[in-house]
Amino acid sequence: MASAARTFTRAIARSNLRPVARSSRFAVPAQTLRSAGRRGYSSEANASKSNSGLFWGIGGLVAGGAAYYFYSSGDVKAKVTGPFVPTQEDYQKVYNEIARLLVEKDDYDDGSYGPVLVRLAWHASGTYDKETGTGGSNGATMRFAPESDHGANAGLKIARDFLEPVHEKFPWISYGDLWTLAGVCAIQEMQGPVIPWRPGRQDRDVAACTPDGRLPDASKGQDHIRAIFGRMGFDDREMVALSGAHSLGRAHTDRSGYDGPWDFSPTVFTNEFFRLLVDEKWAWKKWNGPAQYTDSKTKTLMMLPTDLALIKDKEFKKHVDRYAKDSEVFFNEFSEAFVKLLELGVPFKSEDRYVFKTSE
Ligand code: HEM
Repeated sequence: MASAARTFTRAIARSNLRPVARSSRFAVPAQTLRSAGRRGYSSEANASKSNSGLFWGIGGLVAGGAAYYFYSSGDVKAKVTGPFVPTQEDYQKVYNEIARLLVEKDDYDDGSYGPVLVRLAWHASGTYDKETGTGGSNGATMRFAPESDHGANAGLKIARDFLEPVHEKFPWISYGDLWTLAGVCAIQEMQGPVIPWRPGRQDRDVAACTPDGRLPDASKGQDHIRAIFGRMGFDDREMVALSGAHSLGRAHTDRSGYDGPWDFSPTVFTNEFFRLLVDEKWAWKKWNGPAQYTDSKTKTLMMLPTDLALIKDKEFKKHVDRYAKDSEVFFNEFSEAFVKLLELGVPFKSEDRYVFKTSE
């Protein structure tokens, strides 16, 4: 996979479709990029400026799913006498461990597990149904069949397995909290916006698995997007913002059947997905796989039918244009929508969200 990633990097280096602002960054793995000069979102002060719509309180103790774990080993040996109540600092340690593993395990796909971690957080959360209050990241029911075997979740075992050593090291964290925190970590470490996060998910058993069909089907159009995301409680603007996560990662023929990345920097969070959607010409790809689009110029990028629906639909297109023009607006609105996504259906005991420091 590493050599495939290098070939891909060389291909994009030759291409004239490179995003101007990022061109010097292509050949460098995402983790190197971070230390090489990311945007300055690592401090809480910056964060509150760039995401003003959110609540930024940094709470003290949190009585989440982990509250009654009795810690007997590891960092907090001194606390064996009482229930272990994790603090923001403890969650930051989990964040740091995920960030460390992202750097260490770079021999995967385009050089990072980051995108597949984002997808895990989204698919764990995106099963929410506001009518019944079922689904969502509370429960982490994707650990079990049948949910783990749902077609939409193909390939996500890779992300769950990646996080298993983190759970072994911090066994007090619930899987629901771990998976969502990993999505936050991956986005921030891939130079995306700050994503405030709070703990409180409790793992549930197989009985809480959601039925198949709650996640979107990429072969469909705008009505389907509105039906799926509307069921979760999102409006048009939020649907478009969330779709911008397709600046990350790629489709795999052995998972969804689709193939290829959406842009030339699949391990860096950008607004490129929107810019390419409006600036490039997209034509049906001629191949034996499922119907997908490819860019007419290089034929190396891809768009799903649901992605193209975002420019075919007038209401969606307004937001695509806004995000293509202004990366900061996209970052802020994505962050707000992603926070909402990760919190759907979770019975939090605290209003306070944490802002994690990114790795240097
Ligand atoms: C209409 C909505 C959506 C559809 C139909 C859709 C569909 C897909 C498909 C088919 C793939 C390829 C999977 C594979 O073959 O590995 C994919 C990948 C991905 N999706 Fe989406 N998606 C949607 C919305 C979202 C949202 C809301 C997010 C996050 C906020 C997201 C994040 C990702 C990421 C990061 C990947 C790359 C995974 C990797 O590289 O392994 N997607 N999506």
